[in-house]
Amino acid sequence: MSGPTLDVRVKSITWEAERINTYELTPLGGVELPSFKAGSHIDVHLPHGATRSYSLVNAEGETHRYVIGVALDAASAGGSRYMHENVKPGDRLAISPPANNFVLDESAPLSVLIAGGIGVTPIYCMVQRLTALGRPWQLHYSARTREVAAFADALAARGAASGNLVNLNFDCEPGGTMLDLGAIVGAAPADAHLYCCGPTGMLEAFERAAEKRPREQVHVEYFSAKEDAARAGGFTVVLAKTNRTVFVEEGRTILEALLDAGMDPAHSCMEGVCGTCETRVLEGVPDHRDLVLSDAEKAGNKTMMICCSGAKTPTLVLDL
Ligand code: FES
Repeated sequence: MSGPTLDVRVKSITWEAERINTYELTPLGGVELPSFKAGSHIDVHLPHGATRSYSLVNAEGETHRYVIGVALDAASAGGSRYMHENVKPGDRLAISPPANNFVLDESAPLSVLIAGGIGVTPIYCMVQRLTALGRPWQLHYSARTREVAAFADALAARGAASGNLVNLNFDCEPGGTMLDLGAIVGAAPADAHLYCCGPTGMLEAFERAAEKRPREQVHVEYFSAKEDAARAGGFTVVLAKTNRTVFVEEGRTILEALLDAGMDPAHSCMEGVCGTCETRVLEGVPDHRDLVLSDAEKAGNKTMMICCSGAKTPTLVLDL
């Protein structure tokens, strides 16, 4: 990990659904936390060295606290398991300031929000924001069962109170079916903005359903990589600021090569989903593998995620 961090205290932990807790994090010393926009996430730097990204659940505009939702993943490599089993109220945690790769367009005539499982966390924040602004929205929220659906009652209540549609879908309950993403996308007006956060399979199905829509109206938030990092190696990275040159060998990513060389550029997820390692490209053409940059941004080659993307040219000059 690298980059600035903030110290926060775990003020409270709340059970929200089966295997899902929220953690309320407050600043130390009475200072305010940086403000954030709906869709933002923070990185939590756990004491045993792991870093995990979690979306902010609480209302945009709150600077006295951040609230994150954490689902205990049965296959957890230490992140969610540590949060559930070790973190207690009163503990201190180091976090990174909020970043946002899932930006809400507040001017949309209609926002169609689609959530799967714990992917509901940034969507819940968006619901609060759109409701506060009086902007129209609709929510399609799918979970395996009601018992594992965090915030379902609160979201239904917000929909009822604001006159916006909330469609709760429990696909593993008797008679349950998967959300019909094609029908949801097909029914949305042409000028609607569409948002989806959930498991990778759901996101891919959503992107297929929305592929004919203008890219700027389709928003997705991935939690894990869709494709492997570029590890072909065989190119040189020139670091313009520090005046260093590092050769990236086959089998290594740029970030790994820089870490091997004793440098510590900002990074977190290591798989191209959080945006922490975004680096300006001064010369050369990256082989983009991330899920942060839009297609247009990738084509522009102005920045790249060095944790997963490689090079299409023998040399890359980076602003590092
Ligand atoms: S470290 Fe998360 S995108 Fe590179």
